[in-house]
Amino acid sequence: MNRETLTWVGKWTFILAAAGSAVGLGNIWGFPYKAGTNGGGAFVLIYLGCILIIGLPIMISEIMLGKRYRGSPVSTMKAAAMESNNSSSWQAIGWGGLIAGIVILSFYSVLAGICLNYIFISLGLEGEIDSLAKFQEVTSSPLQLLFWHSVFIVITAWIIAAGVISGIERMVKLLMPMLFILMIVMVINAFINGNFSQALNFLFTPDFSAVTANTFLSAMGQAFFSLSLGMGAIMCYGAYMSADQDIYESSGIVAGLDTLIAMLAGLAIFPIIFAYGVEPNSGPGLVFISLLSIFADLPLGNLVGGLFFLLLSIAALSSSISLLEPSVAYLSEKNILARPIASSLLSGVAWFIGLGSLLSFNVWSELTFIGSRNFLDSMDLLANQFLLPLGGLFVAIYAGWRLNPAIAKSELGGSDFLFKLWQFFIRFVSPVLVFAVFVFQFV
Ligand code: PFF
Repeated sequence: MNRETLTWVGKWTFILAAAGSAVGLGNIWGFPYKAGTNGGGAFVLIYLGCILIIGLPIMISEIMLGKRYRGSPVSTMKAAAMESNNSSSWQAIGWGGLIAGIVILSFYSVLAGICLNYIFISLGLEGEIDSLAKFQEVTSSPLQLLFWHSVFIVITAWIIAAGVISGIERMVKLLMPMLFILMIVMVINAFINGNFSQALNFLFTPDFSAVTANTFLSAMGQAFFSLSLGMGAIMCYGAYMSADQDIYESSGIVAGLDTLIAMLAGLAIFPIIFAYGVEPNSGPGLVFISLLSIFADLPLGNLVGGLFFLLLSIAALSSSISLLEPSVAYLSEKNILARPIASSLLSGVAWFIGLGSLLSFNVWSELTFIGSRNFLDSMDLLANQFLLPLGGLFVAIYAGWRLNPAIAKSELGGSDFLFKLWQFFIRFVSPVLVFAVFVFQFV
């Protein structure tokens, strides 16, 4: 198929696909536990600020570049550099994105595999359970982790192999409505069985005494990860956007949906955490340990738990396909490899790197890689604290300072005011803040 003509079929598909990429483990697992460990409301407020003034302008830029040059992130950046007479080294942004995508997919799939496993664990719940022991049992078995990691990555690879329209578009049209309905069911459950007002209070009453410099770092990292920015996933999906779609409006809807789902996840989880007298700051184990023990006690808890982990798995799947797509798009647009082969090969690489993350739960738990971090935490650090912020920083610098403004204006359309507003943020606000927060982590 000629790439020039490869666009999503449905009018809403770009939004569904980009929201599918954005809404993932980051929203339903990461956001609640990070809000929980960073004191609640103040973190939420800083997070919202990061989405609005750092994330949104960069998302607009990524979509704009993808939509104009219609290639994988590497070819998009190369074509952009050529048209604006910049150095072709700007394509490094694209390469960084492809690498970040595979690195993130490697550990994302291990975590998503645990979610898949938990669907069945929850459905099989009968009465009380020692959920900490259960989590240790699941993660201490390399073979069990390997099985679910492999299942998840094969599903991801299979969807990407099927193509942009028959794979990604078909799946997001199916998965996203399911995700939304399940989320609503979970919030209703929390409303009935939980302490809703305490959760509202926790999430939306800022207590700035808990804020440290680290809160900003964590909130910005979370905003980048959650919006899928800085690695070309959104740029790549933008390349399939139809010509008549509005970029400002689509970006606003995608960022809005992503934020909405993160908040709803908080409202699905914290009311029952509080009702059962569990502390909100238990960290990454919040859903796998704290929540599981509550499901064991809740009326119809095994069903509610099964649906909750199904929701997490669906959200993870619609994100993981966007982690694999940019590099598969690169290999197949160059006709280096046929799509199914590219998909099998690259997912195989991610699967292999993922073995390190899987072993860091058990056999390699004492091995440290970056600083005192195990393999999984090192990959997470590499992606979230380095590759994504740097990718986002360079996208902002490129779109704001190097791309010919006339090109940006004609691609973005809309009023002069909106253009000037975007230009102001992408030149002076987003890159400065990303740089400041990025450098701050070293001091
Ligand atoms: N946004 C996804 C989440 O919140 O789980 C993760 C992700 C997907 C990050 C795709 C980056 C990306 F390109």
